[in-house]
Amino acid sequence: MRSLVLNFVAACLVSALPTVAQNAAQELHGPVPDSPAIEHQIDAMIAKMTLEQKLDLIGGEDSMFIKAVPSAGFPRLKMSDGPEGVRTWGPDTAYAGGIALAASWDPALAQQMGVSIGDDARARGVNFLLGPGINIYRAAPGGRNFEFFGEDPFLAGQIAVRYIRGVQSQGVIATVKHFDANNEEFNRHNLSVDMDERTLREIYLPAFEAAVKEGHVGAVMDSYNLINGVHATENKHLNIDVLRKDWHFHGILMSDWDATYSAVGAANGGLDLEMPSGKFMNPQNLTPAVQSGQVSVATIDQKVRRIFREAICFGFLTNDNQDQLDASLPKYSQLGRQVALQEALESITLLKNDGHLLPLETSRVHTIAVLGPDAWPAEPGGGGSSHVDAYEPVSFMAGISNAFAGKVKVLYARGLPTEDEMFQQTAFYNPSGQPDENPWMGNEVKVESFDNVDFQGTPRVFHVSHILAFPGPSRPATAQHSIRYTAQYQPATTGDYLFLVRADGGDAYKLMVNGNTVLVQPSREGQGPLYAEVPLTAGQLASVQLDYWTHSSYPRISLGIRAVSDLVTPEAKKVAALTDAAVVAVGYDPSEESEGFDRTYVLPFGQDQLIEAVAHANPHTIVTITAGGNVDMHRWLADVPVLLHNWYPGQEGGRALAEILSGEHDPEGHLPISLSRSWEQNPVHDSYYPAPPTPAEKAKCPYSEDVFLGYDYYQPCRTPHVTYSEGVFLGYRYYTTKNVQPLFPFGFGLSYTTFSFAHLTVTPSAHNSAANPAYTISFDVTNTGNREGADVAQLYVGDPSAKVQRPTKELKGFEKVRLAPGQTKHVTVALDRRSFAYWSDAKNNWQVDPGRFIVYVGDSSEHTPLTQNLQVP
Ligand code: BGC
Repeated sequence: MRSLVLNFVAACLVSALPTVAQNAAQELHGPVPDSPAIEHQIDAMIAKMTLEQKLDLIGGEDSMFIKAVPSAGFPRLKMSDGPEGVRTWGPDTAYAGGIALAASWDPALAQQMGVSIGDDARARGVNFLLGPGINIYRAAPGGRNFEFFGEDPFLAGQIAVRYIRGVQSQGVIATVKHFDANNEEFNRHNLSVDMDERTLREIYLPAFEAAVKEGHVGAVMDSYNLINGVHATENKHLNIDVLRKDWHFHGILMSDWDATYSAVGAANGGLDLEMPSGKFMNPQNLTPAVQSGQVSVATIDQKVRRIFREAICFGFLTNDNQDQLDASLPKYSQLGRQVALQEALESITLLKNDGHLLPLETSRVHTIAVLGPDAWPAEPGGGGSSHVDAYEPVSFMAGISNAFAGKVKVLYARGLPTEDEMFQQTAFYNPSGQPDENPWMGNEVKVESFDNVDFQGTPRVFHVSHILAFPGPSRPATAQHSIRYTAQYQPATTGDYLFLVRADGGDAYKLMVNGNTVLVQPSREGQGPLYAEVPLTAGQLASVQLDYWTHSSYPRISLGIRAVSDLVTPEAKKVAALTDAAVVAVGYDPSEESEGFDRTYVLPFGQDQLIEAVAHANPHTIVTITAGGNVDMHRWLADVPVLLHNWYPGQEGGRALAEILSGEHDPEGHLPISLSRSWEQNPVHDSYYPAPPTPAEKAKCPYSEDVFLGYDYYQPCRTPHVTYSEGVFLGYRYYTTKNVQPLFPFGFGLSYTTFSFAHLTVTPSAHNSAANPAYTISFDVTNTGNREGADVAQLYVGDPSAKVQRPTKELKGFEKVRLAPGQTKHVTVALDRRSFAYWSDAKNNWQVDPGRFIVYVGDSSEHTPLTQNLQVP
């Protein structure tokens, strides 16, 4: 019956390549609700299982599967990442990054994406989608910010709920992740994030709470990190007290991949399913624990029950989702393309448009330069488990050229050397003066390989001409060793030189130039390239020493040096000078911003210089940033008239950017994060990285963990802690309360038209009471410009009379309004008890203090032209 319903939905989808609107109008079909009959069915299935079978079931297999239990009639279930496309089983639609979806401020669009990605999952026989990712954006370096929904828990929750509903309506279980407070990638297996209960409840839990209570998500994934000293997968407070008891979550709680660190701790700590395999939760470990009474059979049965319950409610026992060959669910999805385009159109955020340079009128712009590393190839998403291979991603270069074809001449130059060019073209000083016989095995670089991590004793010595991937001897991965490269560099000119280093994740290095340490990369799970700028003098040899600790059998480190003045190619400068407008696409790529490591706050090497050079050559410079959040813009922002943040725009980013530049589409994105003026201005700055180990801690470790953790980063010799000392004053909650001006405030985004707000009214609801305050807020938004456009009306609540200090403004409602010129929309927002409440640690509950509240309405956290008092009884 159920599969017929789903086939019917699917058949509708294929009949006429549906538009986004058509699809949204379709009736959606989620899981069937739990019932006594289902519980009886589960009882019967469990009764057929031995303890060993049960313990076997609660550990996954083959990386992405829940095991089958044929004797209980339970099929093998398939999973896939998530969350920006169904990435695990071949190429697919690459949707925009989560942060982009949040920048759309459009929950209906989130639902359309959910429907579309749900279809993609079914077309690949997938039962569980490992998404959405909803961790809060705490600071720019967080390597996975691009996957998540920004800094505000209310916005993140609203987007998550609709995304989940969309996915699950297609008969696929959504998995909300990573529970909880996975807000950075730095040392993610070992780091404990510590905060008070109020901060957890008000900032880091509400999006998950909404996903459970309103989205009825079928699965939750625990994070890698520890929370207040306890690993997420063993954290009874979060997994049991909050998730099960407070929120009544009945679905499956699975671990992140290799985020389980004990058998009994996880089994009793609330975890139902260890992924990707039962490394800890397995019959071998848990049978004795059950026999000795450490873990009860009831606890194990509960886990099995939850797995069975979700599978039955989603129909997997009768319809295993293995309909990959169903023609109604094509793998290359036209619906997906449309949704991805819509996401990019709605999320690209215009932050600066001096002199109304945009939109580019073809009457005055006849030539456009497209420059920068992010112009081509397309960068639909960041790196790691969310990375999707799109069938046909549209780069900014291709999108702009296609859109303006026949009207405007588009010129392209990357403008900067690639990393490989940096490494290959670095010629070190050759003391012998003799040309190298073999271009890669010269005399220039001395390589000393030591059989210890301290560069002690007599090394093996050999010479190479470049420091370029594999420039050392291979050896067993487990052997302790260190490698020292020494060379001299002869600068041709006086000035700053850029030193760029890239090594493998897990490796550590230290770069010294003329005896000064200029770069240090501790050993971590992953890493991006790092660079330093060092002044050198023409003709004076600079000594270079690179100390390297590698975790793998093959050393893999590269070093490139180039004069900063030579970074930007002459071609780029020329192209910029020749054209009427220049689009500079800067930012990161998946090797620079990714799961597994945190990224730099400064743009990748050379990009600041590229923007400066282009802005110098062309007064009509348009900078567009590909990133999961904020970047350092201080060097050039004042000199460029136009700034866009395009996030990770998904596979249709090029088409969308071109439509926005040309004015075919009004820019609609609004910031889902605050952009601080500098990394230091962010209140998180001083509590982002853990304190370095004390001498006593260092003595406990085989070698200093800050320099070298080795390959075994899962078993640290100490737990580093980060205390979220900003508490609830994160992002705009800090800026608005402390009267600090960020660079661009949360909620901000420009349009090609203008809007005004008027007629704010606050009406108590019929059932308004001290116990249950409830109000309806209404106001008008008018398009006061002369073209169609969209604004995001935002409603914030302040509580000046609370007994505790609360943020001046907190987002409690929003609506995206799309208006024709002169059109007005009357917006209403309902506020309930939770809209006024804070978490009281003393009462261990949500608390509303009666008294004066303030309602603020506008289109950013800083621009709230309408305010009104409201008296809560
Ligand atoms: C990530 C998860 C992902 C899982 C499976 C982990 O490394 O943290 O987000 O779903 O891998 O690929």
